[in-house]
Amino acid sequence: MSFVFPTEESIPLPYRIRPIHQKKYLLGGEILEWTGESQTVKSPIFLNRSGNLEQVILGSYPSFDETQSLKALEAAVKAYNHGTGVWPTSTPMDRIRAVNHFISLMKEKRDQIILLLMWEIGKTEKDATKEFDRTIEYLEDTVNALLDLESNSSKYITQSGLIAQIKRSPYGVVLCMGPFNYPLNETFCTLIPAILMGNTVVFKPAKYGVLLLEPLLECFQKAFPPGVINTVYGDGAKVISPIMESGKIDVFAFIGSSQTANLITKKHPKLNRLRSVLGLNAKNPAIILPDTDLKTMIPEILAGSLSYNGQRCTALKILFVHKDILDEFTQLYLEEFSKWKAGMPWDKDVNFTPLPEEGKTKWLKELLDDAIDHGAKILNPGGGEITESFLFPAILSPVSPKARLYTEEQFGPLVPIVPFTSIEEPLDYIIQSNMGQQASIFGEDPNTVGKLIDILVNQVARVNWNAQCQRGPDAFPFSGRKDSADGTLSVTDALRVFSLRTVVSLKDTEKGRNLLEEVLKTNSSHYLSKEFHL
Ligand code: G3H
Repeated sequence: MSFVFPTEESIPLPYRIRPIHQKKYLLGGEILEWTGESQTVKSPIFLNRSGNLEQVILGSYPSFDETQSLKALEAAVKAYNHGTGVWPTSTPMDRIRAVNHFISLMKEKRDQIILLLMWEIGKTEKDATKEFDRTIEYLEDTVNALLDLESNSSKYITQSGLIAQIKRSPYGVVLCMGPFNYPLNETFCTLIPAILMGNTVVFKPAKYGVLLLEPLLECFQKAFPPGVINTVYGDGAKVISPIMESGKIDVFAFIGSSQTANLITKKHPKLNRLRSVLGLNAKNPAIILPDTDLKTMIPEILAGSLSYNGQRCTALKILFVHKDILDEFTQLYLEEFSKWKAGMPWDKDVNFTPLPEEGKTKWLKELLDDAIDHGAKILNPGGGEITESFLFPAILSPVSPKARLYTEEQFGPLVPIVPFTSIEEPLDYIIQSNMGQQASIFGEDPNTVGKLIDILVNQVARVNWNAQCQRGPDAFPFSGRKDSADGTLSVTDALRVFSLRTVVSLKDTEKGRNLLEEVLKTNSSHYLSKEFHL
């Protein structure tokens, strides 16, 4: 089952890549050249050079120091200018025009970004393409959602002797940090709504998947006024700490581990001022009931547990399988699993690829060995075999509650199976878990499943019946309980989390109405809707 990394010559021409040594960064509307230290970017892909495996160096990006990262913050603070800057006082239509301009520029970078997604984070071509296209669709839907929001909130209301308009206004400066597994999509799911609502942003790309954002710097620069978006690169502890300690961040938008989120949040000196939008750890379970239609559901369960090598926060990270169907389940799961291929991101129909995180295969091996020490067996041939950054997926059963894999989020290609007899076992697991993002139930009896749904809706934020856990469609609210999330994201929710419902009201008297009409006639307020309909 040995994994084969390619030789340079065997890579098809359209997928070859030249190193990118990024010096550019965006600050206060200017694209500047960084002359300080840089951070080397290694690909998860190794090349076979005369029998030796050598990790591909994709290039480098700037490694900012504290002074430089504070410049990015100051540029965002200046552009917001206590809410009086050009961007926060512009109309939603002006902002929509700018975002549409950005989308059209971004579309031109499609092929370049997809290729970099493949090389930087090992995403298959199919998934990398999906990530790009889904992001464009998300941005277009977000623009439409804002148009709806505007038309719904443009009406004036009268109540208790007052005329009022209730619309949404920005919070201020947003610190935006995305995850490495969706370095484009999930980052933009917070970045663009934040901008669209009139905030200004300090943006730090994820640890992996930095270079793929470089082609977009000039798009940001062309589409938005100076300072609306400012980029920061480098070691999080060094560059993010001073930004947070300044107390000038109003919203912290972060997708990643709860540990990192806590470390960063705690640095803010005025916590009551800080809003947070966090997508954090998850250990989503699947409960596979004895009457599950296994033949139909196995491909869904396999995709839920192992697509993108299990590196999705929504992945099914533990499978509770009823003992009555355990043998049939494992046989069918293994059969379906054997159809999935390992290879390079550009290989046709490939599923399993090398992992981008440094040291990840070693860490996963520790989890796997610990599960074996606690009685689990690897069910698939070659499971757990490591070749540099590649770990062949391991399907493990029975995983004991004492094993680390039972509770720790693996975020990788390990599939723990836990056989159960009483439904109380998985339910107790879910209740005791520190995480509460989603759960999947597989089964055919509406009575049994109906009762389980009632229990699970108070434990997690989404219950999936005969379906894997997932974020999409992006119109659905994406959230979590316990340590899994703070706030809700979706096309419409993201607009809400980055803005505050703000009321303008005046006495509903003849004088009040005349004054309001005068303001609208003379166009003295951008904020108030022009149409004064009651
Ligand atoms: O990694 C976490 C993502 O939010 C998962 O999104 O379910 O669309 O793959 P997805």
